Amino acid sequence: MNVTTEKILLEFDPETKNLLPVLKKISARFGHVAKEDAQKIADYFSLPLSEVFETASFYDLVKTQKDPPLVIQVCSGANCAIKSANRVIREIENQLHIKAGDMFNPKVKLEIISCLGQCGSGPVVVVNGNVFARVAPNDVDDILRNYV
Ligand code: FES
Repeated sequence: MNVTTEKILLEFDPETKNLLPVLKKISARFGHVAKEDAQKIADYFSLPLSEVFETASFYDLVKTQKDPPLVIQVCSGANCAIKSANRVIREIENQLHIKAGDMFNPKVKLEIISCLGQCGSGPVVVVNGNVFARVAPNDVDDILRNYV
């Protein structure tokens, strides 16, 4: 069966408490909440579009833009930061000629994220869902070679 935004909306009553579950479900199903879907959600919940975007952009689990083919996440939680996660971030930026947090690169996104719960293995880097532990700046080249 073809799942559409309208079908997902009909699974929920149009009560404000259901806004986040709807956003999460649409984001998970389609990879992000597109602007036209955000408008359908706003209409369904009788909310301003700005409120839908505000809610969507507040939660990491809801994406408002489709991810590029390469997504790199580096933990900058306290334990990883102590173990020089910032040097790993700089090395990735230098090798790929990108800046962390740049949302407009169509090929790669470098996200700085909070604790992944693997503090004993820091610095932790996640590339397209694959987790790399105890990453040092001189490991970055080997890790990225498999993805670029
Ligand atoms: S601080 Fe990085 S995994 Fe916990």
